[in-house]
Amino acid sequence: MGELNSLNPAGPAAAEIAFLWWLLFWIATVVFVIVFGLLLFELLRRNTESQNVQQDIKKGPRDRFILIGGGLIPALILIVVFGFALRSMIVLAGPPAPDEAITIQAVGHQWWWEIRYPNEDIITTNELWLPVGERVRLEVTGGDVIHSFWVPNLHGKIDTIPGQTNVFWLEASRDGIFRGECAEFCGLQHANMAFMVRAVERAEFEGWLKRQRAPVPEFVQEQYAVGKAVFQAEGCVGCHAVRGTPAQGQLGPDLTHIASRMTLGAGILENNRGNLAGWTINAQAHKPGNKMPPIYIEGERLQALLDYCQSLGGVKPSPSGDSFSDGVEV
Ligand code: CUA
Repeated sequence: MGELNSLNPAGPAAAEIAFLWWLLFWIATVVFVIVFGLLLFELLRRNTESQNVQQDIKKGPRDRFILIGGGLIPALILIVVFGFALRSMIVLAGPPAPDEAITIQAVGHQWWWEIRYPNEDIITTNELWLPVGERVRLEVTGGDVIHSFWVPNLHGKIDTIPGQTNVFWLEASRDGIFRGECAEFCGLQHANMAFMVRAVERAEFEGWLKRQRAPVPEFVQEQYAVGKAVFQAEGCVGCHAVRGTPAQGQLGPDLTHIASRMTLGAGILENNRGNLAGWTINAQAHKPGNKMPPIYIEGERLQALLDYCQSLGGVKPSPSGDSFSDGVEV
């Protein structure tokens, strides 16, 4: 899910990277064609003419050819490429996001992403929303080991290092869903550490912020009281927080709006009821080594827990089939 293509840039930084990539590609292609063309020409000539080719060319022109073809032209190409690489570095480095820009913090965990909006008091998981056409400030850090934050359609990679905050910026010039990946080997499930970046228009972004800020409304907690009790009793609360309820665990992802997310398990499963059930009962079967232990819940208790979780975070159909909103205007 989500676009993952550094050659289809959706922002100024990725556009610069794609430009440099194509420049290198075409220069390399031209050099390849010329060198192999000459080689082929020489091979065919040797076959048809049985003379000693070495003596064919006089010493003077031969030395000049080596000097120009082997020294001058490669040097010129490298200087030009160096110039463009410098330009790319300048574009990627700045200018930084303005002071009033939205600040987003990404924390890499084994093996998921905690995304924080410190000025909005929002924490999401594996999902980063930003408004189209605005440069946002991104602060990345590592929660356990070194990871690397990479959204190929938007920007280059940046390492998330425990105890250090690396700052850069993100900007999307068109809307879309862009897939991000962890780009630094970080353990067994390094390959299953994806996240989604959703670039949306400003108004839609504001609506999302408003929904995400809201804790779980009282009436939802009452309607799904059984599921909420299971959530408390089965130890989910030990690791997960659900804002507005007694669940305040900090080890795992914040689940206040889990139903609004596109995927489960950092991009490995579509977020639907069946996958949520499978993940809850035995997350180890889907993603061995992750920190969520198997939880043996069956029958009605499991269904009640799923009802509760699926009510967290947006407009969802209620068990009776009527739809309800979580109390916040969309
Ligand atoms: Cu996190 Cu690789």
